[in-house]
Amino acid sequence: MRIAVVGSGYVGLVASACLAEIGHDVVCIDNDQQKVAALVRGETPIHEQFLPELLTRHRGSRLRFSGNLAEAGRGAHVVFIAVGTPPTENGDADLSYVESVSREVGQQLGDYTVIVEKSTVPVYTCEWVRRVISLNAPSPVDFDVASNPEFLREGTAVTDFLYPDRIVVGADNDRSASVLRTLYEPLTSGAYYTQPGAIKQPSGGADFPPPLIVTSTKSAELIKHASNAFLALKISFINAVANVCEAVGADVEQVCTGVGLDSRIGPRFLRPGIGYGGSCFPKDVLAFRAVARDCGYDFRLLEEVTRINDDQRQRFLRKVRNTLWTLKGKRLAVLGLAFKGGTDDIRESPALALVQALLREGCDVVAYDPAAADRAREELGGDIVRFAKGPYEAARGADALLILTDWEEFARLDLERLAGELKYPIVLDGRNMYRPEDMAAHGLTYVSVGRATITPLNRRAAMASSPATARD
Ligand code: UGA
Repeated sequence: MRIAVVGSGYVGLVASACLAEIGHDVVCIDNDQQKVAALVRGETPIHEQFLPELLTRHRGSRLRFSGNLAEAGRGAHVVFIAVGTPPTENGDADLSYVESVSREVGQQLGDYTVIVEKSTVPVYTCEWVRRVISLNAPSPVDFDVASNPEFLREGTAVTDFLYPDRIVVGADNDRSASVLRTLYEPLTSGAYYTQPGAIKQPSGGADFPPPLIVTSTKSAELIKHASNAFLALKISFINAVANVCEAVGADVEQVCTGVGLDSRIGPRFLRPGIGYGGSCFPKDVLAFRAVARDCGYDFRLLEEVTRINDDQRQRFLRKVRNTLWTLKGKRLAVLGLAFKGGTDDIRESPALALVQALLREGCDVVAYDPAAADRAREELGGDIVRFAKGPYEAARGADALLILTDWEEFARLDLERLAGELKYPIVLDGRNMYRPEDMAAHGLTYVSVGRATITPLNRRAAMASSPATARD
């Protein structure tokens, strides 16, 4: 099928590469001419496993890039809209990019085309897109608008796209539903997975071939918002439980294991920490609440989800203060700046927000992140942070070490070496990456989330109370 994808951000670029990978002829369009030029030159603008391979594999053959929607989009059977929907001041999604793309698409439609919303949008957006296209078409045109929300996560975007838990097609008639069924057929039939050179599924992934469900467009739009809001709710819930654990001296990791083993709840997205961040959850929880409000329902539960999330950072900051007493002039090693491990994205990163708060308190921060340092340096602007080339360099001579992002490499530190590098053997872990007794065994004071603080002096107590914990 001939496909145009408008927008070359995380969703647009990954979708373009993966749709080419499953056999379609794709043009990825963006109005940022510099970005298009970089993609044409062969650069990969985001840190994403398998993406460079797929771009190299298909660039110039099944995958092209263009800065001109009117020209490149002509003749496409399917046009995906994958542009940004940033939040406005009051939490609504700003749909002006979606609208301007719809206008342009309307002006150049020819034969029957399905226009598909891929961006996360409020319910009713399909109706608006339909209206804008009709109003801007020079003559009556044959088209449908469908919703096909994307559930990929940053860091695992390519495998999430190719091995999804489910594919949701929101279509209000059989004709458009059948176009999207055909488009995803290489995945739903399982044909892609037997293809030579197919990207392999990571261990522990979903069953495949994936199910494809067809819903109304409004239901599909709601499925996306409800999914993200529910996942954010799960995280805030476990963070609130972690706070109760701290108050009563229980161990949240043990509680997570016990709760997560209930198959109705499941262990995933139950990791306590310094709260969720990124370009999706914070924005989508706000937007979903705004959608509900506009429809006459006050979804107050979502306000609480956001409040708990914001509070989680403040609590961690208080822990740093309680552990180090005064902060001014303290030298802190920070591991992690990205909003989660496996990505260089720092948007709404709790780690970065904490670094900024520590700088305001007069701390001297030396940070290390395997991928996000350049972006963080740009974002921090005038704020002075030194960047280290590795975790031990960051720790050298520091008053304490803070783990703020769950990069896999931070879970495998040489604790003896770490203790030797630090001026004071103190680790504050916002992601619960270690077993307290392992830290104590290396002479480290260990402060984490939802578990008792362990100091080498009360190591016996740590040994007695902390069995191995299961992690998601
Ligand atoms: C999220 C959803 O997981 C995707 O399904 C969705 O497609 C995407 O948003 C989107 O709407 O585009 P993403 O933001 O890439 O994906 O990252 P997640 O892996 O969901 O993590 C989000 C945040 O929650 C991170 O800050 C992470 O550290 C935090 N988190 C996650 C926790 O604090 N605890 C957990 O147990 C899981």
